[in-house]
Amino acid sequence: ALLTTIPQPKPDPLLKNLKDMDPNGPVQGLMRLARTYGPIFRLSFPERDMIVVSSQELVNELCDEQRFDKKVHAPLENIRAFAGDGLFTAYTQELNWTAAHHVLMPAFGPAAIRDMFPSMLDIAEQMMVRWERFGDDAVVNVPDNMTRLTLDTIALCAFDYRLNSFYQNEMHPFVHAMVEALSESGARGRRLPIQNQLMVLTKRQYAGDIHYMHQFADEIIERRKHDPDASSKHDLLNRMLQGHDPTTGRGLSDENIRYQLVTFLIAGHETTSGLLSFALYELLKNPQTLARARKQVDEVLGREMPRFEHLAKLTYIDQVLKEALRIWPTAPAIALQPYEDTLLAGKYPVSKGQTILVLLPMLHRDPKAWGGDVETFNPDRFAPEAFAHVPANSWKPFGNGQRACIGRPFALQEAQLVLSMILQRFDLIEQDPSYQLKIRETLTLKPDNFFIRARSRGTIS
Ligand code: HEM
Repeated sequence: ALLTTIPQPKPDPLLKNLKDMDPNGPVQGLMRLARTYGPIFRLSFPERDMIVVSSQELVNELCDEQRFDKKVHAPLENIRAFAGDGLFTAYTQELNWTAAHHVLMPAFGPAAIRDMFPSMLDIAEQMMVRWERFGDDAVVNVPDNMTRLTLDTIALCAFDYRLNSFYQNEMHPFVHAMVEALSESGARGRRLPIQNQLMVLTKRQYAGDIHYMHQFADEIIERRKHDPDASSKHDLLNRMLQGHDPTTGRGLSDENIRYQLVTFLIAGHETTSGLLSFALYELLKNPQTLARARKQVDEVLGREMPRFEHLAKLTYIDQVLKEALRIWPTAPAIALQPYEDTLLAGKYPVSKGQTILVLLPMLHRDPKAWGGDVETFNPDRFAPEAFAHVPANSWKPFGNGQRACIGRPFALQEAQLVLSMILQRFDLIEQDPSYQLKIRETLTLKPDNFFIRARSRGTIS
C-alpha cells in the first residue's frame, strides 16, 4: 500500500506542539487546528503524541471494536488520581472494569431508570419553585442552576443522598473540589514534567481536593452501612455493595466503590448540566424551534405535573437535546487505540497503543455526514426518518461500544423531564440579547456567563 504521512503543525524544538495548544480552550483550539489541517492530523508533545481525527469516514473505521479499544490517555490517566479504577478511567482489561460493568449495567436498564423518575421530578420541582419564588425579574445563572440540579439528581438517584443545593447560596464544596481537581489534572498534561514538580502549592491544593472527594464518598458508604433501612433501597450504592459479577462471582471492594461514587458524581452531572444549558441557549437563539418545543409540551403535558408516561410523547424535546449534543457534545472527545499496528483509511500508519483522539464537535460538523448547514441548530435532523439517512457513527456524544456511556438513558430522561418542565412553566427571556456564546472548558464544555429571566406562566395542578 502507498503510505501517507499524517499532517502535523510544525513542532517547536522544546515544546513541540504544546505551543499549538490553547490552555484556555484546548478543545476549541483543536477545532481550529482541524479546520486548518483537516480530518486527520498529528500533535507531538514532549512525552507523548496523538492523532486527532474528525471525519465520519475515519471515525466509522475507529468504531470497530475488533481493532480499536478505548485509550486511557494522559488526561484520563491523571484523573485516576481521584477516580482510580472507576468505570470511566478503568482500562478495559482491568478485572474491576468487567466486574463493575456487569454489576452496574442493570442499574441503568429501562426499569431502573423508570424507577428514578420520582426522584428526578423531586429535584426538578425544587428548581422550578425556586425560579417561581424569585420572580419575573430575577436573573437566573443557567449553568449554575443546571449544575445544582444535575448534581442533586445523581446524588439522590444513585445514593439516596440529598445535597440540597437549591437551599444554599454557595455551590456544594464537592463541586469546587471536583472542578479544581479536573482543571489541575488537565493542566498537568500541558506543562513540562519539571514544571509540575516545582509547583508545590498547586500540588498541595490538588492533594487536598482529592482528599475531600474521597472523604465525601467514604462518608456516604459508611452512612449506608449503618442505615437500618438499607436493605429496602435498590439504588446504585446498594447494587455496588451487594452485587457480584455473574461471570466471575467477583464483588466490588470498598475502595473500588469509593472510586465509582466519585466517578458517578463527576460523570453523572457535569455533562448533563452542560447539555441542558446549551439546549436552553439554542432555543433562545432559535425562537421558531422554541415555539415548536413549547407547543408539544403544552399538547402533551397541558398544566399537569409530568408523569413517566408523558416522556415517550415528548419526541421533539428529545430531538432538541440530541441536536444540542450534536452542536456542543459536552464530553467533547474520546480516545481510542489500535490493538495492533494498522493502517487507517488504508494509508495512514498508526502503531499499537497510539492515542487517537476523536474530536466530537468536528465529527458532528462533517458536511459529508450532516450536509452543508452544520452550524444551523435543527432538531429535525433527529426525526427518525431523517436520522435513518445519516451515515453510521456520525453522532457519538456518548462514546462507543462497550466503553460507551452507561448513564445515557439516565441523562436523557433527566434532561427531557427538566427541559419540558421549564417550557411548561416559564417564558424565557435572555438577560442580555447581545450575548455571544462563550464556551468554558473543564473536562466538559459549558456556556459561560449565560443568564436568563424566567416568567411564570401560572400554576400547575
Ligand atoms: C462514559 C458522555 C451522562 C456515567 C461516557 C463517555 C462519553 C460520555 C462520551 C465515553 C468516554 C470515553 O470513551 O472515554 C456523556 C454525556 C452525558 C453523560 C454527553 C450527558 C449528556 C452520564 C451520566 C452518568 C454517566 C448521567 C451516570 C449516571 C458514565 C460512566 C462512563 C461514561 C460511568 C464510563 C463507562 C465505562 O467505560 O464503562 N459518557 N455522559 N454519564 N459515562 Fe457518561
